[in-house]
Amino acid sequence: MPNITIINGPNLNLLGKREPGVYGNESFDDFLVQLKQQFTQVNFTYFQSNVEGELVDAIQKYGFDQDGIIINPAAYTHTSVAIGDAIAAIKVPVIEVHISNVHAREDFRKISHVSAKAVGSIVGLGLKGYALATEWLVSNTK
Ligand code: DQA
Repeated sequence: MPNITIINGPNLNLLGKREPGVYGNESFDDFLVQLKQQFTQVNFTYFQSNVEGELVDAIQKYGFDQDGIIINPAAYTHTSVAIGDAIAAIKVPVIEVHISNVHAREDFRKISHVSAKAVGSIVGLGLKGYALATEWLVSNTK
């Protein structure tokens, strides 16, 4: 059974309420129920924090014994050298996901400290990006 950890960064606990025109109407908790139903063969762990260091701790904690990590570091994507370094430090393959198309928004969102350290990135496909990342990890890891 593949073990996949999803790590979400700041303000993603407000999905469904937060800027629905950009991020949609669905909460992550509701989406996670569906994701688990879609991938019954996957053992998901979910972690969300609004605190940069807690995200670094989670990357370190899950980065050596999972089959994959799906991370959306939210705003820290664009600012956090520490999160980029943590991803470079671990062994587990990481996929970066962004719900919105960060390349079609403000210029500061075009910078990612994560993309170069990740196996790949999925942006702009809504919450479905997490499902696509899961699919890739299921078929490309042990
Ligand atoms: C986001 C994009 C980021 O620029 C933003 O700060 C977020 C969410 C996304 O999923 O589209 O909080 O990571």
